[in-house]
Amino acid sequence: MYAPQGSSSHAKKVTVPDLRARKGGEKIAMVTAYDYTMARLADEAGVDMVLVGDSLGMVVQGLSTTIPVSMDEMAYHCRAVARGLGHAHLVGDLPFMSYQVSPQQAVESAGKLMKEGACESVKLEGGQEVAEQVHRIVRVGIPVVGHVGLTPQSVHAFGGFKVQGRGADGADKVLADAVALEQAGAFAIVLEAIPPDLAAQITELLTIPTIGIGAGPACDGQVLVCTDLLGLSRGHQPKFAKRFAHLGDAAVEAFTSYVTEVRAGAFPSAAQSYKPNGATPLHRPAMSADDLDAPLALDLWH
Ligand code: KIV
Repeated sequence: MYAPQGSSSHAKKVTVPDLRARKGGEKIAMVTAYDYTMARLADEAGVDMVLVGDSLGMVVQGLSTTIPVSMDEMAYHCRAVARGLGHAHLVGDLPFMSYQVSPQQAVESAGKLMKEGACESVKLEGGQEVAEQVHRIVRVGIPVVGHVGLTPQSVHAFGGFKVQGRGADGADKVLADAVALEQAGAFAIVLEAIPPDLAAQITELLTIPTIGIGAGPACDGQVLVCTDLLGLSRGHQPKFAKRFAHLGDAAVEAFTSYVTEVRAGAFPSAAQSYKPNGATPLHRPAMSADDLDAPLALDLWH
């Protein structure tokens, strides 16, 4: 079994100043994780940032959007992931309607993820319309990652998971959103599903790192959903989601072998069994209903 609390070999913890200093330098590698085991593996690989994304609504809960995910669910998954990280910086996503209402609501929600989820920064979606929220969260000492372009919490407003920032107006809007977040104090910004040349220009114009997902190679870092990266996802896969392994197929193969061996009586073998007792044959003891606890005894009547 794993030893708890992130015993990674990449022991030094990645800090916000470390990440800011990577602007224009060595690219930042970020992945999502939703539980302790995945966090441990990503941390062991030397990932710089782990995001507990509200994508857990789709990846873990099987929902069709991220919209129903709650603060308590985010805090629960952040806590589990935090225990697996010894090196990577932990970012927690603020879910839909946990920050849009007011700057005060945003500060309280960010504080909850830091306290209950053991996060080291928070991420929220949107640009100019949430700049005040970002400013207020940063002012209380909580680092913020912005997220512009395709912001999945607005999927219904976009009419689907569609590329953003197309045309001069679209490009101007994404740039204005990114600049507003930088001015509000965000220390990094996720650029999702925008044309690569737009992402390159934004990356050039900002002084803080950009982290792309479906935004081309010019960003200061990249983020992928862990199940996409590992090939664990089934069904539709976004164009940008490169599979670095095919663990889903490997898992189905392993489950199939397990089913076959259980049905054939081939598993468990002696190798997976404890040393035999070598005891004399046992006889079934005589039991009456009086020997059982009252609630269990009641079952005898059904
Ligand atoms: O929720 C999430 O996983 C995200 C990433 C895709 C950036 O926001």
